[in-house]
Amino acid sequence: MTQTIRKAVIPAAGFGTRFLPATKATPKEMLPLVDKPLIQYGVEEAVAAGCTDIIIVTGRGKTTMEDHFDRSPELEATLEARGKQQLLDLTRSVSRLARISYVRQPEALGLGHAVLMAKELVGNEPFAVILPDDIVDATVPCMQQMVQAFAEVNASILGSEVVEGDAISLYGCLDCVSTGHDPRLKAIRNLVEKPKPSEAPSQNAIIGRYILTPRIFQMIEQLKPGSGGELQLTDAIKALLQHEKAFCFQYEGKRHDAGDKLGFLKATVELALKHKDLGPDFRAWLQTQHF
Ligand code: UTP
Repeated sequence: MTQTIRKAVIPAAGFGTRFLPATKATPKEMLPLVDKPLIQYGVEEAVAAGCTDIIIVTGRGKTTMEDHFDRSPELEATLEARGKQQLLDLTRSVSRLARISYVRQPEALGLGHAVLMAKELVGNEPFAVILPDDIVDATVPCMQQMVQAFAEVNASILGSEVVEGDAISLYGCLDCVSTGHDPRLKAIRNLVEKPKPSEAPSQNAIIGRYILTPRIFQMIEQLKPGSGGELQLTDAIKALLQHEKAFCFQYEGKRHDAGDKLGFLKATVELALKHKDLGPDFRAWLQTQHF
């Protein structure tokens, strides 16, 4: 019987070096994309996929994330006293999104290590992983699409997209084969982290969305740390392939790398243009500008 995906892990303990100096004292995950911090997009996507328990992996200097999803009695009282009902509802809705727990990653020792920190809270069930700096703009939220695919295969699934040309050398690259029925879902034969373009087995890149079986924790624990003591999630998934089938899923939607300054700017413009309140005015303003 297919298990449901109740829990989502959101790793958010990295340094965000690509975004310095903005991320010197502010977590990258709290940078506002249009009108919400990046991490809120991740939490909302997990909730839309049916997850009820969110586990955020945090580190030093990241407590604003906890405040963001907590109640804010003083602010709520002030908004209530001023009769700002809409803002009050908006503020309260953020603290009611899901049951959120936090676990610390004492040192940023890689994505695999960050996921391992959630082992006790996840327990023995398949779970989702959402990297909050990969923002996927989609009609059906990306993780919801993946949860539907999980119901078909009951095995680990990696979100993937086809990238152009040499860009594959920036990603984990998938060697995968069709499964027959769903063309978006393929069986993974192997994966190579950041290959040279000439050595890439395909143009299928791994993006920041995963559904993983709990055996992944054992695989991470058995990894030999790489450079700087880091434990990479892709190495653990490679090890997992020795024991279980795993699949990749080509989601429908557009991804923005909001962990990178240029990607963040592009995401800001595109999402602002689509924003139901701000979009029309922003578009009209852009059209009057001569850059
Ligand atoms: P990234 O590599 O995009 O984030 O990891 P980073 O390391 O913070 O950023 P740069 O590369 O230095 O600019 C993807 C996600 O995984 C988290 C990050 O916080 C980010 O949300 N992460 C990464 C951890 O939680 N722990 C780690 O050790 C590494």
